[in-house]
Amino acid sequence: MTAERKILLRHADEPYYSPGISSYLAYGGYEGLKKALKRKPEDLRQEVLRSGLRGRGGAGFSCGLKWSLVERKSGKPIYLICNCDESEPGTFKDRQLAHKDPHQVIEGMMIAAYANDVVQAFIYIREEMPLGAKILQRAIEEARAMGFVGGDICHSGYSCDIVVHRGAGAYICGEETGLIESMEGKRPYPRIKPPYFPAVLGLYQCPTIVNNVETLCNIAHIVRMGGEAYAEIGRHGNTGTRIWCVSGKVRNPGYFELETLTMRELLYDLCGGPLPGRKLVGIIPGGASMKILKVDDNFRNRDGRAITFDDIIIDFDGIQAAGSMSGSAGMIVLDDSVNIVEALANIIAFFAHETCGQCTPCREGSYWARKILARMCSGGAREEDVALLYDLAGNIGGRTVCPMGYSITWPVQSYIGKFRDQFEANAKSNTCGVESFAERLIEK
Ligand SMILES: Cc1cc2nc3c(=O)[nH]c(=O)nc-3n(C[C@H](O)[C@H](O)[C@H](O)COP(=O)(O)O)c2cc1C
Repeated sequence: MTAERKILLRHADEPYYSPGISSYLAYGGYEGLKKALKRKPEDLRQEVLRSGLRGRGGAGFSCGLKWSLVERKSGKPIYLICNCDESEPGTFKDRQLAHKDPHQVIEGMMIAAYANDVVQAFIYIREEMPLGAKILQRAIEEARAMGFVGGDICHSGYSCDIVVHRGAGAYICGEETGLIESMEGKRPYPRIKPPYFPAVLGLYQCPTIVNNVETLCNIAHIVRMGGEAYAEIGRHGNTGTRIWCVSGKVRNPGYFELETLTMRELLYDLCGGPLPGRKLVGIIPGGASMKILKVDDNFRNRDGRAITFDDIIIDFDGIQAAGSMSGSAGMIVLDDSVNIVEALANIIAFFAHETCGQCTPCREGSYWARKILARMCSGGAREEDVALLYDLAGNIGGRTVCPMGYSITWPVQSYIGKFRDQFEANAKSNTCGVESFAERLIEK
C-alpha cells in the first residue's frame, strides 16, 4: 500500500502534539542539539555532506557543499538566515513546519549555527504569516528559557540567539540576496553573483548561510541518525524525504511527506485521482514558475529510459529528467475543466505583479506578457500573438540579475509548447470567455 514516509511531519498533525516545547521534549526534542554540541563543528559539516541533503528552497543545491563554501577566514561574523518567505504559488509546507513544529525548526537552526560558527541567526518570515511569526517567537522564548538558544547553550560555552524578522510580503524577498537586502532595510533588489554570494558577502557584507525551513528541519534528524543512515532514505542523489504540496484538481489535495514515489502513487493512491468525471491534463511540479508537464506526453527517467507520466519519480532527478524541476515542491494539478490560456494568464499576472523592477527584461517583459495574455482572454488578440508571446518570453530568463526571469520564460514557453492549439484557437477566436478574469489582468 502506498504510504507517506513521515520524518519531519511525524508528530505535527497528531492530536497528542502541540507546538509547545513540552511536546517537542517528550519525543526526543533537542537531543540532536545536545549531541551536536559535544562534537567539533567541522565533524558536523562533514556529517551533513555525507547525508547528501539537498536544499528544499528551490534549486536543490547540496547543503553540505553550501556550508563548506562559507568564508571562515575573513574575521567577520558569520550569520545564519532561515528562509521562511514561502511565496511561490502552490507551496505551503514551510508554513506547516513553522506552525506545527516550530522547535524542530529551531533545533535545526541551532545545530546549523553551531556547525558553522554562527554568531547570530535570523528567521525571515513573510508578512502574510503573522501566526507563524508569533508561534516561532514564542518557541524561541521557550527554548531560550531552557538554555537551547541564547548564551552558553546547554553549558557548552557556545552562544547564539535567533531574531524573527518579518518581511513586508514580497515574492522576491524569497530570493536569498533580495532577502538580505530587505533585512538590511532596503528595497529587495537581488544582488549580482559574483561577487555577492551570501557565503562570502551576505548580510552586512559578512559571510551568511541562507537555508530553507525544511532544509534546516532535516539537520537535527541527520545528527540523530547519522549522515550515512540518512543517505539510505530516498534515492541516490535525492536523499531524505520531501514534503510535497498538492493543490488543484484532485480529490484529496494536501501536503505529503514522501520518500520515493511515482506520480501514479501520489496523484491516485494518496490524492485520490481526478475529480468525478474529469481527466488530468497536466501538472506544474514545483511551484507556478516551473515548466508544465502534460499528462499524455512521453517522458524519460534519469537513466534515459522511456516512461509514461504515471511512472515519473517524484524527486529532484525524476522531475528534471521528465523535463521540468521540482522547485519548491508545490505541485498544481490541472484537469480538462481548466482553460490553459487563463491558467497561464493568472500565473503571469502574479509574476508581473511581483517583479521587483530592477531588471528591464523582467519588469517590462512580464508586463508585456500579461498584456498579450489579457487580450487573449478578453478579446483583441492577433493571430501572431502566440509567436510574439513565445519569443518575448525567451528574452527574459537568463538576462536578469536573479533567476526570477525564468518565472516568465518557463511557464510561457512550456504552456505554448505543449498546448499550442489552445493558444492559437484563442488568438483566432479572440476570447477564451473569461472577461471578468481578464479585467483583473489589466494594470489599473
Ligand atoms: C525568485 C525566487 C524566489 C525564491 N523564493 C524562495 C522562498 O520563498 N523560500 C526559499 O526557501 N527559497 C526561495 N528561493 C531560493 C533562495 O534564493 C535560496 O536558494 C534558498 O533559500 C536556499 O535554501 P536551501 O539551500 O536550503 O534550499 C527563491 C529563489 C528565487 C530565485
